[in-house]
Amino acid sequence: MTEDTDDDAPGWRNFYGRRHGKTLRPSQKTYLSQDMDTLRPRGIWAAENPERSPLDLAAIFGGARPVWLEVGFGGGEHMVHMAARYPGIGLIGCEPYINGVAMLLGKIRAAGVTNLAVHPGDVRELFDVLPAGSVARAFLNYPDPWPKRRHHRRRFVTQDHLVPLARVLAPGAEFRVATDIPDYMRQALEEVPQAGFELVAHGGVAWDDWLSTRYEQKALREGRVPDYATFRRRGVAAADA
Ligand SMILES: C[S@@+](CC[C@H](N)C(=O)[O-])C[C@H]1O[C@@H](n2cnc3c(N)ncnc32)[C@H](O)[C@@H]1O
Repeated sequence: MTEDTDDDAPGWRNFYGRRHGKTLRPSQKTYLSQDMDTLRPRGIWAAENPERSPLDLAAIFGGARPVWLEVGFGGGEHMVHMAARYPGIGLIGCEPYINGVAMLLGKIRAAGVTNLAVHPGDVRELFDVLPAGSVARAFLNYPDPWPKRRHHRRRFVTQDHLVPLARVLAPGAEFRVATDIPDYMRQALEEVPQAGFELVAHGGVAWDDWLSTRYEQKALREGRVPDYATFRRRGVAAADA
């Protein structure tokens, strides 16, 4: 998804990924038109919330519960798996690629899970409006690798993304990173601790509750090796910005 770039993102931030792919199937169009309304929290897009007031997560998930975040959920298989496995949490995912969002919606229907919220856009918009310390766990699965050196600053594991992530995570919250790109993990191991995290575990063995994603399956087919890291948010929660 990294080579096909566009810069037509709404708002002031450049987004270098892809927002549209193949023509959606009729069923996927139906999911988008019927299900997004209830799954999409209001107030994340700048146009809906120009003051950037913090979201009311208890209202979004129908009561107070731990909230987890998945960045760039792709086809949504990991998200639905986690929501089904942990019905007591609320999981909010973001993904600007609309075909991926449509795939997630189909999986939500099939699984019947209800503890999910979906932002069909950039995680940075969500960071703006999540209250400080409000997220108990975050997942970054097979982020866009941006292999060219001059594009490394676009990677998620840069301070531009990690500092806002650290703000919204609660002290002690887990941040999981999975990638098949050795240089990406190198950068994660260097940059994530600088943003206020400690490394808890790193290696080739996945978490007990891991569900292999589409991009992991692609990596395995192409002979690349998965690598997993777990970080923990250090310190006390920063004051809300
Ligand atoms: C390589 S794909 C991996 C998808 C999925 N996590 C998996 O493992 O199969 C990376 C995903 O991150 C999404 N992404 C890229 N930049 C993003 C951003 N700023 N906010 C949210 N998602 C983003 C892309 O659209 C893409 O679907």
